[in-house]
Amino acid sequence: MSQLNGSKQPIIDMRNIVKRFPVGNDEITILHGISFDVYPGEFVSIVGPSGNGKSTLLNMVTGIDRPSDGEVIVTGKPVHSMTENELAKWRGQEVGIIFQFFQMLPSLSLLQNVTLPMEFAWMYTRAERRERAMELLDMVGLADQATKLPGMVSGGQQQRAAIARALATDPPLLVADEPTGNLDAKTAGQVFDLFMKLVEEQGKTMLMVTHDAELADRIPRKIEIVNGNIATDTRNQVSSKKVEVETPAPNGNGHQNGAHKNGHKKEAVPA
Ligand SMILES: Nc1ncnc2c1ncn2[C@@H]1O[C@H](COP(=O)(O)OP(=O)(O)OP(=O)(O)O)[C@@H](O)[C@H]1O
Ligand SMILES: [Mg+2]
Repeated sequence: MSQLNGSKQPIIDMRNIVKRFPVGNDEITILHGISFDVYPGEFVSIVGPSGNGKSTLLNMVTGIDRPSDGEVIVTGKPVHSMTENELAKWRGQEVGIIFQFFQMLPSLSLLQNVTLPMEFAWMYTRAERRERAMELLDMVGLADQATKLPGMVSGGQQQRAAIARALATDPPLLVADEPTGNLDAKTAGQVFDLFMKLVEEQGKTMLMVTHDAELADRIPRKIEIVNGNIATDTRNQVSSKKVEVETPAPNGNGHQNGAHKNGHKKEAVPA
């Protein structure tokens, strides 16, 4: 724990988050006062039963929705109180969002999809944007698919392109809601390996909702949401070296902290 805390500020600081939704003339409380911190370089999974508030919570982190009560401080910004314009600008620079159903723009090529966030953020020259987008597509193994429309490639390829898009503006924080939920086990494993690599080699912070218990077990920290509360928040002694990436090179961001769970080592996710 201390390795993560140190003198660093949390990148995500959720303070007593309550979320109520109107139902008819009444209200239903979905999140009951959730607080947690995530520090730079952490890889955190959010797990828990369907309908218990995981996506609602993630939407608070990204500012897609606002809490009824509480404060959301992400990358030092008061996300709960920012205007839509401020949020859009902030998201463009600080947060990469990855969805279950990819959400690529269907009439644009993969390359154009990846270029778009840089255009919105007014980052780089036109030529640099294209070059960077190609580099990112190459990193996710899609350089030869760059000019194809999303509908012309597989689900796994679309999701890898969506990851490249999420990285376009080089945000420090990646937030993903069931990013492997629509992929077969083998492809899910490949996408997951990519996330692990981004955390370990590029120092990204990753917050990921998943229903995949195998994958969640490989993530260093697991927050379990049950009935809109944190039921457990545990750190596993995950053997990240089991992840089959080409050059696993942990950068010392320290996920090997606080190993007070059972610390079993799993073999690589079965294909
Ligand atoms: N806009 C809304 N208005 C009313 N109720 C909502 C709204 N959004 C979500 N809910 C309710 O909040 C609860 C939690 O939903 P949420 O999508 O956060 O669950 P989840 O944990 O992500 O589930 P899943 O694993 O199935 O994706 C559900 O009962 C849902 O119906
Ligand atoms: Mg959900």
